[in-house]
Amino acid sequence: MSVLQGKKVVLGVTGGIAAYKSAALLRALMQAGAIVRVVMTPAAQAFVTTLTFQALSKERVYTELLDTDQEAAMNHIDLARWADLVLVAPASADFMARLAAGMANDLLSTLSLATTATIALAPAMNRQMWLNPATQENARLLRQRGLQLWGPDEGEQACGETGPGRMLEPDVLLAQAESIFASGSLQGKRVLITAGPTREFIDPVRYVGNRSSGKMGYALAASLARLGAEVTLISGPVALTTPDRVLRVDVETALQMEEAVMARASACDIFVGVAAVADYRPTEIAAKKIKKSSETLQLNLRKNPDILALVAALDEAPYTVGFAAETDDVEAFADAKRRAKKVDLIAANRVGGSRGGFEGDENALLLLWEGGREAIPMMAKPVVAERLAERIAERYHIQANLG
Ligand code: CTP
Repeated sequence: MSVLQGKKVVLGVTGGIAAYKSAALLRALMQAGAIVRVVMTPAAQAFVTTLTFQALSKERVYTELLDTDQEAAMNHIDLARWADLVLVAPASADFMARLAAGMANDLLSTLSLATTATIALAPAMNRQMWLNPATQENARLLRQRGLQLWGPDEGEQACGETGPGRMLEPDVLLAQAESIFASGSLQGKRVLITAGPTREFIDPVRYVGNRSSGKMGYALAASLARLGAEVTLISGPVALTTPDRVLRVDVETALQMEEAVMARASACDIFVGVAAVADYRPTEIAAKKIKKSSETLQLNLRKNPDILALVAALDEAPYTVGFAAETDDVEAFADAKRRAKKVDLIAANRVGGSRGGFEGDENALLLLWEGGREAIPMMAKPVVAERLAERIAERYHIQANLG
């Protein structure tokens, strides 16, 4: 059962082409058991009609601040008090500016001022509008005041441009909404997590690397932090921003990652190895840049320490979670890996297909632990991370109670 069951959500819709996606978001929230009241700004109604949301929610849609008929049903103060969460998706640049300025010139901005509930905004706008210093300043101000900003995402935009400004997909927004009400089941627990690739140097300017983007590890670090854990993220080189409330330690090589992990492993409750650690490193690192003088060049490689296995072998090992990338026979190979490395839970993903894996935005996982399994279907990585974090928390507590 979703943590959204019975939760009261005001879904605010402001003017933007992404407003059509809010219909899917409304359905997703309702399917998760939330009770949703939709509030639309006048600009939103230029993109989607109230009838769409009314038909889906089977409730009246609120649009007016000073309409005696609407106010008689539930006035702006009633709505503000009623809500457990005010989720504005899409949130336009104009709406963010009005909120930042404390304006109360329509129903949605007024109830946003009046509510004590969590307010979350899913910005959606042209990338230049998002990058404009005025919008950036408003975003900073709103965050500082405790509002949550979910997104925007990067990618192709309705206006034909590519960049930051896309509204997060409804399933990702649903996962974010769920995280607001998550149990805090890892409150006070220390989690150590690795993410990203490692670089194994050949000479001062060259390295052997891999295509890991770090997205899965970063999403999981964010989800574990939202469950209340104190998360330390040992990260290989990636182009990602550090999630809120996560302490990040940057490393480059497998040996540096090993050192950073082993220095902290005994003091943590849970260790999660998501990093794509290079299995081998050059036996020697040339002190100077290698010149292209010979026709062939041979690299001698030496096996790197298996960080996950080392942590799992500690006398007072934390609860350990590993990943396994397999092209075939996923369950058999992953389970063999779980036993060989003595990890408590392994998350296996199939690689080499058209979707999911290293660089993509989606993933599907098969979770295996002693005596149990669960398949998480192909979904956006933050949604998969949310599910995995909850399962890790649950299995950790079961194991801790047994031990
Ligand atoms: N891992 C690690 N240290 C290494 C190698 C891997 O901590 N030197 C961790 C990864 O973070 C991941 C898991 O071990 O959690 C992956 O195990 P690995 O044996 O490398 O499996 P695959 O990457 O699937 O590779 P292979 O099947 O080739 O063994």
